[in-house]
Amino acid sequence: MDINIPSNILKGTISGKKKKDQKYEKAKIQRIANDNKDIIQVSLFTQKQVFHTNCSDDDINDKLIELLSNEFNNMELVTSDFTYSYRITSKGKVLSNRKKNKEECFVCVTEQNRKKAYILEEGIMVPALVDLGVMTPDGRVVKSSYDKYKQINRFLETIDDEIKNEKYLKIIDFGCGKSYLTFILYYYLVELKHMDCDIIGLDLKEDVIDNCNKIAEKYGYDHLKFFKGDVAQYKDSNVDMIITLHACDTATDYALYHAVNMKCKYIFSVPCCQHEINAELESDKLHVINKFGILKERFSALTTDAIRANILQYFGYKTQVMEFVDIENSPKNLLIRAEYKNLPKNEKIKEEIDSLLNMLDVKQKLYELLFNKED
Ligand SMILES: C[S@@+](CC[C@H](N)C(=O)[O-])C[C@H]1O[C@@H](n2cnc3c(N)ncnc32)[C@H](O)[C@@H]1O
Repeated sequence: MDINIPSNILKGTISGKKKKDQKYEKAKIQRIANDNKDIIQVSLFTQKQVFHTNCSDDDINDKLIELLSNEFNNMELVTSDFTYSYRITSKGKVLSNRKKNKEECFVCVTEQNRKKAYILEEGIMVPALVDLGVMTPDGRVVKSSYDKYKQINRFLETIDDEIKNEKYLKIIDFGCGKSYLTFILYYYLVELKHMDCDIIGLDLKEDVIDNCNKIAEKYGYDHLKFFKGDVAQYKDSNVDMIITLHACDTATDYALYHAVNMKCKYIFSVPCCQHEINAELESDKLHVINKFGILKERFSALTTDAIRANILQYFGYKTQVMEFVDIENSPKNLLIRAEYKNLPKNEKIKEEIDSLLNMLDVKQKLYELLFNKED
């Protein structure tokens, strides 16, 4: 095939399947840095997965010609100055044109801005997410849901890193809401990885629970169930993992309380709306903070999560607190990740928590539930 392919390609797209039933739906091209060396990554998308191939500037031409000869009819390539379009006609003729870019196109190729591949790349259609309005039927993420999509992908990635050797998991999503995370987790673990799982979503809202159960039934997700209920009242046993994503205020404490009581192996919890301490914090010693509403709110949120993380450590969990997405994707971006390791009780941790609570003259729900046996 006679095609004039430019050098210094920065990015591109390939589409227009030659055969309806072919494996790949489309391809994307992106120049990235890899160990200080430029490569051009070609990502081939099936309905459910994405496959990456790395090419050098020398071998990208052959790869693109191969794709246009065998799989696709349309291609667009962008260099710093021009955008090149190609179309293969039904008679196999190559039509092409070149347009000057309105602005010079830069792709600053550094290791830092190297595109982070999501576990579920955009373009992979997750059926339930279409029903939930996060994705279009062709697998594009709806613009207004982009931050949410990033959050659930990163959450999924964090879980995936931890469970490599697990064969079966019973997972509960407390405060699941519309259940974007619950569905994507099920889809990834059960549909794609064929892992044996039971996943439960719990929320106070009857309408969202009904809708989630309908979607789960529609796709035959037999091991995904949703229940209406208050996390405070929840009773279960043998749960391997609890997850919470922005479960409001003390709902997170009840979720962590159940996890500790069940000695649940994995905890992934992104708290939000930590109102409890904020409402109680009056200490004169903190006047320099308290007089500014936003500082009081942030201080209360950090204090709440610090106490929660320390309590988990005290109860034998290896615990980390990490930023799971950038702050522009969600201001509530701290994830408490904990794994039960049966670590020996360290009384110093308890003393330090007590001392902080005394100093601030506040109560904290998880502490009250576990140490003062409050209901
Ligand atoms: C901010 S939404 C987050 C929903 C979902 N996890 C997400 O990230 O999209 C918080 C959810 O927690 C639920 N919730 C709050 N308190 C709860 C409780 N005590 N028991 C069960 N669900 C609760 C709310 O009904 C709401 O759907």
